[in-house]
Amino acid sequence: MLQLTLPAFEIALIVMIVETVIVSVLFVGWYFGSRQMKYRIHHGAVYSIILAHVLTVSLWMIPQGLLLVSMGLLNDPIGNLYQILHDIIGLLAVSLGAVLALVFLIKRGMPLKLLKKARPFMILTLIVWALAFLLGLTSFIITRLL
Ligand code: HEM
Repeated sequence: MLQLTLPAFEIALIVMIVETVIVSVLFVGWYFGSRQMKYRIHHGAVYSIILAHVLTVSLWMIPQGLLLVSMGLLNDPIGNLYQILHDIIGLLAVSLGAVLALVFLIKRGMPLKLLKKARPFMILTLIVWALAFLLGLTSFIITRLL
């Protein structure tokens, strides 16, 4: 497999730390929101991280992803599967998170019916997000540390 080398290790490291904080806050939000029903903590957690996350993905990851494609990422799809899966699953996770945040911004007051309907989507978002994070971590280790 041809190892693709990306520039700007320092930015990648900062993004790695920011994403680790984001995924931790997401799980804290899930614990307090879902397990302990403290919705204020849940909402504060979710809104603050969605903004930070949309910034890291749109200003850093998508441009780096396009750079990787121009460097030949798709010429070796099997060798780069972790990165390709990361990008696809990551796009799905961001979209799910953004839609959920928007729905709850529009329908303020947490109607119980809506909460019940949204629950499976929240759990799906959490799982897909955790997967994207683990694949991002894999990408960081392979392209930046090895
Ligand atoms: C929930 C969604 C996502 C999470 C949790 C996530 C997480 C991460 C993490 C932890 C890294 C390692 C840090 C780094 O190397 O900069 C990373 C790298 C990367 N991500 Fe994501 N990511 C997500 C979505 C996306 C999307 C939607 C794309 C592009 C379509 C993308 C493209 C990339 C690329 C190209 C890198 C390598 C950047 C580099 O090392 O220069 N990610 N991601």
